[in-house]
Amino acid sequence: MTHPNPSFPDQAQARPLNVAIVGATGAVGVELMGCLERRGFPVASLRLLASARSAGRTLPFKGQDVVIEALGPDSLQGMDVALFSAGATISRQYAPIAAAAGCVVIDNSSAFRMDEGTPLVVPEVNGALLADRPALVANPNCVAAIAVMALAPLHARNPVTRVIGATYQSASGAGAAAMAELEASTTAYLAGEAYAPKVLPHPYAFNLFSHNADVDAASGYNGEELKAMAEIRKILAAPDMRLSFTCVRVPVLRAHSMALTVEFERPVTPAEAEAWLADAAGVRLVNDHAANHYPMPNEASGGDDVLVGRIRADLSDPTGRTLSLFLSGDQLLKGAALNAVQIAEALPR
Ligand code: A2P
Repeated sequence: MTHPNPSFPDQAQARPLNVAIVGATGAVGVELMGCLERRGFPVASLRLLASARSAGRTLPFKGQDVVIEALGPDSLQGMDVALFSAGATISRQYAPIAAAAGCVVIDNSSAFRMDEGTPLVVPEVNGALLADRPALVANPNCVAAIAVMALAPLHARNPVTRVIGATYQSASGAGAAAMAELEASTTAYLAGEAYAPKVLPHPYAFNLFSHNADVDAASGYNGEELKAMAEIRKILAAPDMRLSFTCVRVPVLRAHSMALTVEFERPVTPAEAEAWLADAAGVRLVNDHAANHYPMPNEASGGDDVLVGRIRADLSDPTGRTLSLFLSGDQLLKGAALNAVQIAEALPR
């Protein structure tokens, strides 16, 4: 269900802004442009920045071809807001340059997410943190952003004490090159040809594998799992919430799915949870037991809403305090570009 969010300023009244996209040619960069255009974000000027490899190419925005420029020390001069999606190294290097130029940064990388002074924001959940117009806002990891869309409306009514999650993550989270690899390796597989993986560490066609982030030797969790768990706690302002995730890449192009087993402080029924989720901005219930129709990545892809369903009491908890659910959300939209543009919309001018 899509609700207007009263904390978002009326775009028609807002002063148009000079907007830069850092990493414009990437999977998220292209979606950032699409979100700005589709949502009528008040853009006075748009500067597209990428590596020197892409300089001089063009990308379309509002019917015009915009020339891509190579990112450099002067690129952010005169910009009001920069949407960064070119990896943590570029963010660390260029965020201070943006700050010196008076340009607000909305950063899609992991560089600053867990810094104490940096707000990590999903506007429907903790958009209030934007009220004092921070100069740097971190956009969450895609698993965290999608998961909190379902967890926050539940947690607000009956505190969540523990979450066990298993994810089914798309290629898009590893960038445009990984999406191309999924397509090319599938084509090769169907033609009976050999394909040597170049971007991801394992064969992707008709396969799945534990998420490609490095594994922490001490805990045995991979980096994606640790990020998701820490970021969910931060966004929900629930430092004591116990979480355990298993993150897996599946051969899907651009939507992440996840199975969540959620333990609450007090007993809860599936009907209560359904009612709370039906009321939540940015969430759409897909919970048709009769038709066995639940969230699927092909129905989440290209849409703004996180799909939530398969809501049922966890039979392994006789106290009635645990529910299981299944979600799908577009990794490039709510998991990245849409959330970043929603942050830009919600920032006071
Ligand atoms: P380019 O296409 O010129 O390499 P993805 O996550 O989909 O792989 O996208 C990464 C984005 O980050 C791309 O837009 C890429 O631009 C950009 N990028 C990579 N390295 C740099 C760099 N050194 N300076 C600026 N942008 C970069």
